This record gives sequence, C-alpha cells and structure tokens, in this order.
Amino acid sequence: MALKRITVLISGRGSNLGALIAAAQSSGFGGAVTQVISNRPEAGGLDLARAHAIATTVVEHADRATFGARLGSAIERSEPDLVVLAGFMRLLGDDLVQRHAERMLNIHPSLLPAYRGLLTHRRALADGVRIHGCTVHFVTPDVDVGPIVAQAAVPVLPDDDEERLAARVLAQEHRILPAAVRWFCSGRLTLHEGRVRIDGLPPPDGVLVAPDPDA
Ligand code: GRF
Repeated sequence: MALKRITVLISGRGSNLGALIAAAQSSGFGGAVTQVISNRPEAGGLDLARAHAIATTVVEHADRATFGARLGSAIERSEPDLVVLAGFMRLLGDDLVQRHAERMLNIHPSLLPAYRGLLTHRRALADGVRIHGCTVHFVTPDVDVGPIVAQAAVPVLPDDDEERLAARVLAQEHRILPAAVRWFCSGRLTLHEGRVRIDGLPPPDGVLVAPDPDA
C-alpha cells in the first residue's frame, strides 16, 4: 500500500513534528511527512523539517480571508491524505476544515473537553486539578471540540509549575500523536457518523492512558 502523505502545520519548536518524523521511520507506519507548513518563518520545526529533506512552506500572516486562502492552497499543493495540526496557533477557516473533514487531526495539551483554547497548563494549575493530560482529536470547525481519538493523563504533582507540568504532558503528546497518525495511516482509525473507531484495539478499560499507543 502506498504511504499516506502527511502535511504537518506548526507554529513553533516542532517537538511533536519531530516525534512524528521519528515514528514514521519505523516499519509499518504507513505514512510519511511530505510537507511542513508554518505561519511563522522563525519556527524551529522548519529547520527540523529541512534537516529531514521535507518540503517546507511559510504562510505569513495577512487578513483572515487571504491567510486562509493561501494556507488552503499550500496544503492542497502537497495533496495530503492527512493534515496534522501540531502546535499550529492560528485558527483555520470553516471552509478549510470542511475540505479536509475526517482527515485532519489536532494535538491539544489538555484532557478535552476541559481547557479548550490557550494556557491550558496555567488554568489546570489554578483550578487545582489532580489529573491533566493531552488529547488527539479530529478537527471540526469549532475549536478543540472534534471527535476524540486518544488521550493520555498525567498526575499534577504538588511542586508543579507550568513548565514542569507542560513537560510531563508533552512527553505524552509525543506518544499519542504518532500513535493516532499510525492508526490513521494503516486505515484502522476512521469516523463513523462522527464517532471514532479504531479497529484492532480492545474497548476502553478505564485505564487513564487509553487506548494503548503501542497496541
Ligand atoms: C504542544 O504542547 C501542543 O499541544 C500545543 O503547542 C505545543 C507545541 O509544541 N498546541 P511543539 O511545537 O510540538 O514542540
């Protein structure tokens, strides 16, 4: 089966992109990152992509309609089977999302539906929650509310600050994002009437990290 073509959208350092590139090199992954798009020319993830000979595109800020049109063309040029938002900090227009419905995933640093939006770690600490985490979900026009594919939970420890908590969550992002993309590329992850199905995994069993990314 041909490798699925993955376009990754980033805005920053690109550690999730790095985790994806590394995972895609393992046999049986079923996909390859063929293009990285950033809205910021200084994003560290662009260097990472170039170091792996992956095509890069910068779509600089403009008014919303122009930015959306440019971003849409940049994505389409690479003819992706899957679009992954990995720390992409700009809102996508509804049209663009709808054009890639059911083949666009996002990694979000909270256990959705808690803490949609920004500053998730700060808000979790302020609320005194004992469990925090991250979510991979399909992208829909409403921000951070699409069907949930995978989640990983981490404990919030007594001496945590934003940085320590973010690092603990990020380590889990690097597990569940490549896992979800692998499931998608092998055809096991699909949406049926808005509900996520992952073939070949046991039903959720109440474990906090589920489903098992290594399954
Ligand atoms: C990640 O925590 C992601 O969940 C959030 O932004 C961060 C991006 O990190 N939306 P990186 O660029 O992948 O290192």
